[in-house]
Amino acid sequence: MKFFIDTANLAQIREAYEMGVLDGVTTNPSLMAKEGIKGVENQHRHYIDICQLVQSDVSAEVIATTYDEMIAEGEALAALDPHIVVKVPCIADGIRAIKYFSSKGIRTNCTLVFSVGQALLAAKAGATYVSPFVGRLDDISEDGIALIAHIVKVYRTYNFSTQVLAASIRHTAHIIQCLDAGADVATCPLSAIKGLLNHPLTDAGLQKFLADYHKVNG
Ligand code: G3P
Repeated sequence: MKFFIDTANLAQIREAYEMGVLDGVTTNPSLMAKEGIKGVENQHRHYIDICQLVQSDVSAEVIATTYDEMIAEGEALAALDPHIVVKVPCIADGIRAIKYFSSKGIRTNCTLVFSVGQALLAAKAGATYVSPFVGRLDDISEDGIALIAHIVKVYRTYNFSTQVLAASIRHTAHIIQCLDAGADVATCPLSAIKGLLNHPLTDAGLQKFLADYHKVNG
């Protein structure tokens, strides 16, 4: 399973990249706004900075919600860097735009997906990635991980090439559950990725090794 980090914060992206396990980055308009990046020129510069840092897939989301404007905005984003993946919301014009981008060889990430039906349409339109939002389903007492497993089953049954990119990951346990569900990618906050590393028995064992060594070697 590939690890993406879900942030527009360059320092966190750099920290995850330097861990040596990062496979890509996802952003969205809220994450970009959180970094205070204002105006199209600054946003495009920021996307390029992320691409140059990680040299792997970077999802950049369109703001437009109508077909023609999505096409214009998405083509401008795709032209920024070969690593850009155009992120498009799962709405009627978005599915139509994904079909267009797919026909032009522009890679896409269909986002704000909350059902198998939506995932099916994204795959049929040729989306590179589909982003089911695990955490937001859990937040309303639905089973986000079950949706991931269901989409994975449908995609494998019908041999769709679209990759299941589990999004809205809230914690480390979600990552493990996504592994079991067969997700192709999990896009996570840095804390969830770092949480995979930590175990008290590792820390205690290392301390014991060092203490025993220094008893003899000073
Ligand atoms: O970026 C898409 C998704 O990961 C958003 O997550 O935490 O806002 O539900 P969240």
